[in-house]
Amino acid sequence: MAKDAKKVIDLLNEARARELTAILTYMAQHYELESDDYGKLAKVLKTTAIAEMKHAETLAERILFLGGTPVTKPEAEIKRGQKIAEKIATDIALEEGAVKMYNEAAIACAEALDHVSKALFEKLLADEDAHLDMFISIRDHIHQLGDNYLATLTGE
Ligand SMILES: [Fe+2]
Ligand SMILES: [Fe+2]
Repeated sequence: MAKDAKKVIDLLNEARARELTAILTYMAQHYELESDDYGKLAKVLKTTAIAEMKHAETLAERILFLGGTPVTKPEAEIKRGQKIAEKIATDIALEEGAVKMYNEAAIACAEALDHVSKALFEKLLADEDAHLDMFISIRDHIHQLGDNYLATLTGE
């Protein structure tokens, strides 16, 4: 395997481990929010978890195509039992980390002359950017409106 291919596979696997952390985090949050009767917010986390599952799968397909082995372990511990504002802060940190890493990885893939992997990172980046924006707006609403806003996230 060429040195550059190994480097790209490592980047794709680093991204995949991040995706696995996001999937497990958003699923855990979804279940907790559901049981606390924050059904509307739970649904947002469920939809986002499914988007991250697709990312993890896309990354695995590219890793396999390049001759690598997709990782199966998340890169961080999954936090449980956080309050809603803490959950959203966790999510913002995950998305910020992904945005930073995917930006850098796209540049590294271009340097390795792998423009397919570069395009993959750019596609994921656009999704993470939207997720980050969404979580930031939830955080800001909680900050500005507090319980009045949280009350709108309950129910089905
Ligand atoms: Fe993702
Ligand atoms: Fe995301």
